[in-house]
Amino acid sequence: MTTLRLGDTAPDFEQDSSMGRIRLYDYLGDSWGVLFSHPADFTPVCTTELGYTALVSGEFAKRNVKVLAVSVDDVDSHNRWIDDINDTQNCEVNYPILADADRKVATLYDMIHPNADATATVRSVFVIDPAKKIRLIITYPASTGRNFDEILRVIDSLQLTDNHSVATPVNWKHGDDVIIVPSLQDEEVIKQKFPKGYVAVRPYLRITPQPDQ
Ligand code: BEZ
Repeated sequence: MTTLRLGDTAPDFEQDSSMGRIRLYDYLGDSWGVLFSHPADFTPVCTTELGYTALVSGEFAKRNVKVLAVSVDDVDSHNRWIDDINDTQNCEVNYPILADADRKVATLYDMIHPNADATATVRSVFVIDPAKKIRLIITYPASTGRNFDEILRVIDSLQLTDNHSVATPVNWKHGDDVIIVPSLQDEEVIKQKFPKGYVAVRPYLRITPQPDQ
């Protein structure tokens, strides 16, 4: 296990899942990916997280993102739990849950934090881009469900900032004004890239409407 950091290549792996054997790179293809771990099957917080992820699967698809859950339980357990998730969360879990009983993926991605829990995975999230680079890492404690709208929001920001010379400010959401990156100084280029203009609150803080709107 090596420490994974932003910009690192996401390690490939092959593992069983609720939808058969999965090789990460084949599963992702040219899509973005969200790989997220949860402590165990048949636990309440995880049930709500996996249900919500299924309910917003259209939002992930719109952004060309494939989701992949992981926990250290086996396929039989996952399949029984998926029935419960579907029943209780009024959803259809339509993405795979890796059955990481041998902890291959959990170890590769450092998802077990022994001083928090010796055996269960914490709530890790890795956003992986189409070049297989890790673009976001977040880690939540077992007792706190994650905010999957926030994960979608960061993906919106990453996809926007990859394609335009902008960064997104505090609490930004799709459609809000953005910031022109400080490295862009050529006024001719700025005019061409941001025809709607910008407001310079400070020379380093230049606000412009979201460029692809
Ligand atoms: C869970 O649902 O995963 C959970 C609930 C309470 C404490 C820790 C984990």
